[in-house]
Amino acid sequence: MRLTLRVWRQKNAQDPGRFEEYDHPDVNEHMSFLEMLDVLNQRLIGEGKEPIAFDHDCREGICGICSLMISGVAHGPQPATTACQLHMRFFNDGDTVTVEPWRAKAFPVIKDLIVDRSAFDRIIQAGGYIAAGVGGAPDANATPVPKVNSDRAMDAATCIACGACVAACPNASAMLFTSAKVAHLNLLPQGQPERYQRTARMVRQMEIEGFGACTNMGECEAVCPKEISMDFISLLNKDRIGAAMRGIRD
Ligand code: SF4
Ligand code: FES
Repeated sequence: MRLTLRVWRQKNAQDPGRFEEYDHPDVNEHMSFLEMLDVLNQRLIGEGKEPIAFDHDCREGICGICSLMISGVAHGPQPATTACQLHMRFFNDGDTVTVEPWRAKAFPVIKDLIVDRSAFDRIIQAGGYIAAGVGGAPDANATPVPKVNSDRAMDAATCIACGACVAACPNASAMLFTSAKVAHLNLLPQGQPERYQRTARMVRQMEIEGFGACTNMGECEAVCPKEISMDFISLLNKDRIGAAMRGIRD
């Protein structure tokens, strides 16, 4: 299959960047999207050109690092699929495919398709943990957890912190990510002692990082490769009210 790729090339954060077009006649339908880029990069290296910089690690849909905007859709056209798990059989011979980095003020471009997502790390550092003593694993496992809560906490915990929700949101809001990271702790008994402080701190850090506000557009849920539900945003807002009622700011 032969594709035309329009790829965002940007030397560093200061470079204004531009699209470059590549003819790619060597695309196999069984390749993943990242393998397709690998093959193009091998050719560019052979021609003495700079390869395209893109983030990748597990290539199994679990690490969340393969952040690519593919023809205007975060992670590409296949629902519930990360870019590394997207296969070229979902494209057609002769397609023109545009590949860009995430676009958000809080995710500055480092190079080409790689952005700095350390803002997410700082949101986690602000409260995405349990500092209260819960004993060893057997003690913690002895604490009864309602099945409905353990299932919902597990659903929230599947967030891989990829940032697609931010990239897809017209406001570049990080509410879906933050709500998932808050909910997987706030839904469990072990998360209760710090529940409202955690909520207030993580939301405050989200605002400090420059992410926009949520206006219920729903683009985040539509592109999330782990199908994180916007219901978690409702839960987060409920706990924000709970924090405010208790006078907990951060
Ligand atoms: S909520 Fe979904 S889209 Fe957002 S960071 Fe988590 S896994 Fe990625
Ligand atoms: S490379 Fe790990 S999720 Fe895609």
